[in-house]
Amino acid sequence: MTRKIWVFDTTLRDGEQVPGAKLNLYEKLEVAQQLKKLQVDIIEAGFPASSTGDFQAVKEVASKVGNTDDIIITALARAVKADIDAVYNSVKVAVNPLIHIVLGTSDIHVEKKFGKSKDQILDIGVEAVKYAKTLLPEVQYSTEDASRSDFEYLWSTIEAVVKAGATIINVPDTVGFAVPEEFGELIFKINDRLKNLNDKVLLSVHCHNDLGMATANTLAAIKNGADKVECTINGIGERAGNAALEEVVMALHTRSTVYGAHTNINKKEIMNTSRLVSSFMGIDVQVNKAITGGNAFAHSSGIHQDGLLKSRDAYEIISPVDIGLDDMELVLTARSGRHAVKNALEKLGFQSLTAEQFEGIFQDFLALADAKKEVYNHDLYVLVENYYAKNE
Ligand code: KIV
Ligand code: ZN
Repeated sequence: MTRKIWVFDTTLRDGEQVPGAKLNLYEKLEVAQQLKKLQVDIIEAGFPASSTGDFQAVKEVASKVGNTDDIIITALARAVKADIDAVYNSVKVAVNPLIHIVLGTSDIHVEKKFGKSKDQILDIGVEAVKYAKTLLPEVQYSTEDASRSDFEYLWSTIEAVVKAGATIINVPDTVGFAVPEEFGELIFKINDRLKNLNDKVLLSVHCHNDLGMATANTLAAIKNGADKVECTINGIGERAGNAALEEVVMALHTRSTVYGAHTNINKKEIMNTSRLVSSFMGIDVQVNKAITGGNAFAHSSGIHQDGLLKSRDAYEIISPVDIGLDDMELVLTARSGRHAVKNALEKLGFQSLTAEQFEGIFQDFLALADAKKEVYNHDLYVLVENYYAKNE
């Protein structure tokens, strides 16, 4: 049995920080219900101190989606009492509530953002955890900008907040600065010390995509001992976004021998979730995006189409059915070969064309495909009808 990786979805918090992506209460609830169907382990429902609307939305998610034992509901707080109270008061109705506290550990955050000393920031973090622990047993602490922090200071923060009661340590690559080898090494070092300190504490990562490496960094962290990953649907999130849940999950599934790890995600709900989030947030999924992009299972070259029709694994590493799609799509273009066009015609019911009829229709198809780039099923009907009319 492989190791289970916990999936923490932050579509409703980091994802909702995308300009224009704000959801109303009803939409948030729908997305949260769908995330539950997808079987994520933890939903971060928002940042309740930011507005009354967000507080209400988190509360609704906690009571209506967090009403069973199979899911944890959390929300974000800065290391201040008022934020922690807002999280507590909005998530406490859930069966499994969690308080999530964030505070920076890099020199840039400590000195430039907060204008404080490292000791002062460390004390603020410890006090925040101690206060949160008076409210709930489960507390996650995020060392913001961890990947640009001095390692020994980062470790002394982790050690202190674990001693104060934090049950999850989350290591964010807040600005997507890390590269996989380096991030993997960081997680290895933290994991090594953490397991000696308290082996019940979960080690988590939160990777941003500024250099296009959020998924690769997340996987490197898993390989080096991370127990939990923070992701969003379609990879939406601040700036270039977060690690895409569907990419991390399908990479672990497809390359299980490399990672020796699995998630509890119900993969058949991936496409439904992607489409729901994209339509509610008004953010199109890039067509060539891995797993959920419109072209991720579309094959257009004749050589590929011919190969696929002979053996799917020639050009397919994941079955589209596994993520909830009906099937692969062969997009007919001027580069499609006879095999793909014949297959499409047979699917439409044209089973008994003679070789001569097919060749005539195929030549008409090529002329049409040259003129209009993509040929759809309705075009194929017209091509066949025209051919019969011409040759009767
Ligand atoms: O990117 C970040 O550091 C965050 C934290 C709140 C985890 O979003
Ligand atoms: Zn983030």
